[in-house]
Amino acid sequence: MLEYVLVNIYKYLLIHYTRKARVVYMSVLVTGGTGYIGSHTCVELLKKGYDIVIADNLSNSEIDVVDKIEKITGKRPAFYEVDILDRDGIERIFSAHKIDAVIHFAGKKAVGESVEKPLMYYHNNITGTIYVLEAMLKFGCKRIVFSSSATVYGVPKTVPIKEDSPLSAVNPYGATKLYIEGMLKDLYVANKDLSITLLRYFNPIGAHESGLIGDNPNGIPNNLMPYITRVAKGALPQLGVYGNDYPTHDGTGVRDYIHVIDLAVGHIKALEHMDRPGINAYNLGTGKGYSVLEIVNAFEKINNIKIPYIITERRPGDVAECYSDPSKAKDELGWVAEYSLEEMCASSWNFQRQAN
Ligand code: NAD
Ligand code: UFG
Repeated sequence: MLEYVLVNIYKYLLIHYTRKARVVYMSVLVTGGTGYIGSHTCVELLKKGYDIVIADNLSNSEIDVVDKIEKITGKRPAFYEVDILDRDGIERIFSAHKIDAVIHFAGKKAVGESVEKPLMYYHNNITGTIYVLEAMLKFGCKRIVFSSSATVYGVPKTVPIKEDSPLSAVNPYGATKLYIEGMLKDLYVANKDLSITLLRYFNPIGAHESGLIGDNPNGIPNNLMPYITRVAKGALPQLGVYGNDYPTHDGTGVRDYIHVIDLAVGHIKALEHMDRPGINAYNLGTGKGYSVLEIVNAFEKINNIKIPYIITERRPGDVAECYSDPSKAKDELGWVAEYSLEEMCASSWNFQRQAN
């Protein structure tokens, strides 16, 4: 009996402390780390004591994000201006650093552009991911967290959406996410020592409280929140609300908006649960849907700014409702979204009013 108790205490201590040690000393390559979600994730990783190396070609982000990450955290991440399509460049990073895990954000994400330039999207997102994976295999790195998207659910038949809902692609961008998920599943079948996490993000908005990092797309924004903040700033005259005849409570589209910091924390929770091989997909959302008009109203109220809008035609490809069932991430990763809609709207504006 005593022996049984002692063995179990020993096992507990071993698991507890080795897991802690691994988490603290893990070195993470963050592709796309100067981008919107990547930069917030880098901040949370550094706060938790991870060593990080950023690889980004700066095609959709600015080099000064590295300074801003340092300003927020007091730690400067290693940064490589490298394209994931540059095999040698990626391998050089693995040669220079012992990488324990990759968080793979790098990719193009504009749905409309993907319809116009499908080959560019397939090449950048899929070929780029193949090169990252090949380098991981070559250098013995066994963990990867992949930025997937709710877009892999296509036109959802029911909401809230669970991870085992049917998957489909409705545009080339979505197809790249779906194919990469499939590729990672095949890779796991062939390499059973890998640990792979697919995080399916719903609609990230919000920004770090410092206002230093956030979502600042080039040109006219496609997504709702950056469009609203540009209208708030006076850079755009009014918001076009894409249709008010959907079968939703006020006729406008319903989405699951999630604070980007909650999303960032979700990546850390995922890393903490990648001690064992396997492949798992998780929804990262709040589980709550808000309509376009509810977002406009919440933004106006918390920031005390009027957002002029007109109702326009529906945007082709949009669905009426898309929101998650995030219970799998809660049960298995211990992750839940904590920020409120008001905090998302306030921090989005706090960032944009200071941005160039
Ligand atoms: P982002 O454009 O702000 O960040 C992506 C980063 O990847 C950018 O800094 C860009 O310069 C870099 N990049 C692109 N192609 C690259 C290449 N070939 N080599 C090196 N770097 C490259 O986008 P984000 O919103 O932070 O999204 C991050 C990831 O999450 C993307 O894969 C995106 O598809 C996915 N995602 C985003 C959303 C969203 O609404 N923002 C939703 C679901 C999934
Ligand atoms: N909308 C407007 N006016 C705008 C922009 C958006 O009314 O100017 C509406 C849309 O019709 C939709 C809602 O606001 O009802 C949200 O639209 P977004 O473009 O912000 O987000 P989507 O849900 O269309 O798509 C986003 C990303 C996709 C990703 C998906 C799920 O753009 O890449 O979330 O993660 F796949």
